[in-house]
Amino acid sequence: MATRHQHRSLLSTDDLTDAALRAVVDRGARHAAGRAGGARTLDGDVVGVYFRMTSTRTRTAFSSGALRLGAQIIAYGPDDLQINTGESSEDTGRVFARMLDVIVARTGLPQQELAAWADPRRLCVVNAMTAEEHPTQALTDLATLKGRFGEIEGLRVVYVGEGNNTAASLALALSRFPGVRFELRTPPGYGLTPEIRARAEEHAGRSGATLVERHDMDALPRDTDVWYTTRWQTTGTVKPDADWRDVFAPFQVTRELWEHSPKAVFMHDLPAHRGDEVTSEVLDGPRSIALDQAENKMHSAMAVLEWCRGVDFAA
Ligand code: CP
Repeated sequence: MATRHQHRSLLSTDDLTDAALRAVVDRGARHAAGRAGGARTLDGDVVGVYFRMTSTRTRTAFSSGALRLGAQIIAYGPDDLQINTGESSEDTGRVFARMLDVIVARTGLPQQELAAWADPRRLCVVNAMTAEEHPTQALTDLATLKGRFGEIEGLRVVYVGEGNNTAASLALALSRFPGVRFELRTPPGYGLTPEIRARAEEHAGRSGATLVERHDMDALPRDTDVWYTTRWQTTGTVKPDADWRDVFAPFQVTRELWEHSPKAVFMHDLPAHRGDEVTSEVLDGPRSIALDQAENKMHSAMAVLEWCRGVDFAA
């Protein structure tokens, strides 16, 4: 096991300084463009990939990304670990720290319990999605925006749908870029949590970004660069009200939205439910960059793993 590197953890985009956030986004975009040098920067590392919940993109991205960087991986599925038979989360983390360099985890545990595994001397923990945040998705999304638009500063992004973990991490990340306008249109009762809003507003106040949240689809902006949505049935969650579809129905992304912004691109973190949050016409249409986004999960995963282990991006 390599011992020459650092053991930084990424539970939230807020674990990154402004400079580190930019560096990881840029590094992800460089990997995507084939301009990151191709070095096996994680040679000798062992990366655990523990998914107790379903995942297609994030699990594949970190597995493929770690292998491409020269690491070995150990994959744990939902039924593999003694945590299922009552071993504590704390003991599970302590054991990981003795044998792995990095653990990438989507466990269903509260974010604080996952954070408790982090050990700056022994183990990097990467949050591959909790109920609260989905930081590696936001880093992917920003790398995709960087590749598409050249700069993130000044972009106008409208997010339509539930104020879930994807929305939370996007708000926390985009609000740190000067001139960004991030507008959320979330169904009534399904907005950002007050805690996430407060953190994002604090970032925006410092950076000069603008954060807006409304619970209707009236007076949509016409000068949007990006429309973004996510599926209505967020992984691992159940809606409290039986009539939730009635509340969400006006928030479907349809072709009519393009009339508001003829040059805008469409983004979706996937998986999608065509006919729910977005029509096939939009998701599969010429202005959709959802599949680039999906591929970029791997390139950004490589950047995240490298940051965790202290790889010098300038080298
Ligand atoms: N977007 C995303 O996190 O996809 P998976 O759930 O397939 O990992």
